[in-house]
Amino acid sequence: MRRFVYCKVVLATSLMWVLVDVFLLLYFSECNKCDDKKERSLLPALRAVISRNQEGPGEMGKAVLIPKDDQEKMKELFKINQFNLMASDLIALNRSLPDVRLEGCKTKVYPDELPNTSVVIVFHNEAWSTLLRTVYSVINRSPHYLLSEVILVDDASERDFLKLTLENYVKNLEVPVKIIRMEERSGLIRARLRGAAASKGQVITFLDAHCECTLGWLEPLLARIKEDRKTVVCPIIDVISDDTFEYMAGSDMTYGGFNWKLNFRWYPVPQREMDRRKGDRTLPVRFGNVEAHWRLQLHTLSLVALVMSSTRTTGDWQKFGWMNLKTSSISYPQIRNVETNQCLDNMGRKENEKVGIFNCHGMGGNQVFSYTADKEIRTDDLCLDVSRLNGPVIMLKCHHMRGNQLWEYDAERLTLRHVNSNQCLDEPSEEDKMVPTMQDCSGSRSQQWLLRNMTLGV
Ligand SMILES: *[C@@H]1O[C@H](CO)[C@@H](O)[C@H](O)[C@H]1NC(C)=O
Ligand SMILES: *[C@@H]1O[C@H](CO)[C@@H](O)[C@H](O)[C@H]1NC(C)=O
Ligand SMILES: *[C@@H]1O[C@H](CO)[C@@H](O)[C@H](O)[C@H]1NC(C)=O
Repeated sequence: MRRFVYCKVVLATSLMWVLVDVFLLLYFSECNKCDDKKERSLLPALRAVISRNQEGPGEMGKAVLIPKDDQEKMKELFKINQFNLMASDLIALNRSLPDVRLEGCKTKVYPDELPNTSVVIVFHNEAWSTLLRTVYSVINRSPHYLLSEVILVDDASERDFLKLTLENYVKNLEVPVKIIRMEERSGLIRARLRGAAASKGQVITFLDAHCECTLGWLEPLLARIKEDRKTVVCPIIDVISDDTFEYMAGSDMTYGGFNWKLNFRWYPVPQREMDRRKGDRTLPVRFGNVEAHWRLQLHTLSLVALVMSSTRTTGDWQKFGWMNLKTSSISYPQIRNVETNQCLDNMGRKENEKVGIFNCHGMGGNQVFSYTADKEIRTDDLCLDVSRLNGPVIMLKCHHMRGNQLWEYDAERLTLRHVNSNQCLDEPSEEDKMVPTMQDCSGSRSQQWLLRNMTLGV
């Protein structure tokens, strides 16, 4: 008899859970199709249970899978921002994330008197859900006394909801959010500089418009800056899948960072840094001697995740820009031909393709070329490489082995001589006006090149 009662209790309990499950399943499969109205009509009590149990779509950084029926629509929406907008729109703006920090990081204690920061976020036609999830993650996961303000710099977006709707929305947030509009499309660097110029905090933090900060992301960064105000710090950057919005913890062997163009890249952690930290992975990775205007540290204690395709490209760490925060300007090198007055331009082409030449536009970007101390001609992590007499001039990964990537610049004659072939970099031929050529050195004006630092200000 008693056994029977037990059985009834067990059955009743399981039945209740089955019902709850069915309800949740129905709700979520329904909601993939639903609009705001339906979501709002869901019982508030149930919503509370869902969020408390962290079972809403994407909670705890989980993947959101779109049912088969909606795949076509999903693909259409994907094209708008090049990520799964449907999945992103299903996820709460304040979704929870797992705490993937090393145990040693969770218990570190930081000084009370840290400097406060302005967080600058540039966007251009960003999706509502990703942009605001970025803002919410900053506000919800930073101690408010360290957060001076959030500055959103709109790089001439066209979407209506990013205008007045956004302005009204951010007025109700717990931290002051300022919106600055660029008059015309100006690019990431100018927009970030504008944000920097308007900032009031003691430290400026730049974030992408589609990232999510995790718990404890800010304090370690500010603590390092407090120790030495010349330090530039960067957190470990994990990946948010562009397909499912799953939070994927990265390895601390590679790290995401910004090249001097302030574009995001993946870099391997150098072996000497692994050695220096003697196995304590909670210590920051240092880049002390990089063109020493900035001291850059990578923070393993601090995590920020960025929406991106999870295929990583790695390159060497390098920087050849100089940022001057006082004048809000950035300097970068370019290489200009004296005869045609045009500049070397990588045309946005990839490794293994020909380098181009184009009218100098003074905006950096694809025309950033530096002649390095290793005597390479370098654009980002690619070097100009010539393997045959008379060219072509190809962009290949820099190997630092001299060989086909060794160029001798003669500062008097202004020539760039390729040492192996003993030929000089020359203007384009009649056949192709868009690529420089290799010719026997003749001292003509078309073989003269000016290496210049350009300054880009706001
Ligand atoms: C998100 O915000 C809602 C409404 O304020 C709240 O009920 C919910 O608990 C929050 N979720 C998290 C993960 O903090
Ligand atoms: C940031 O710190 C400065 C200097 O201590 C202070 O004047 C300013 O009020 C702080 N801002 C915020 C928002 O706490
Ligand atoms: C550009 O500026 C940097 C930093 O001030 C300097 O080291 C470098 O020599 C300059 N290059 C040229 C070509 O003037």
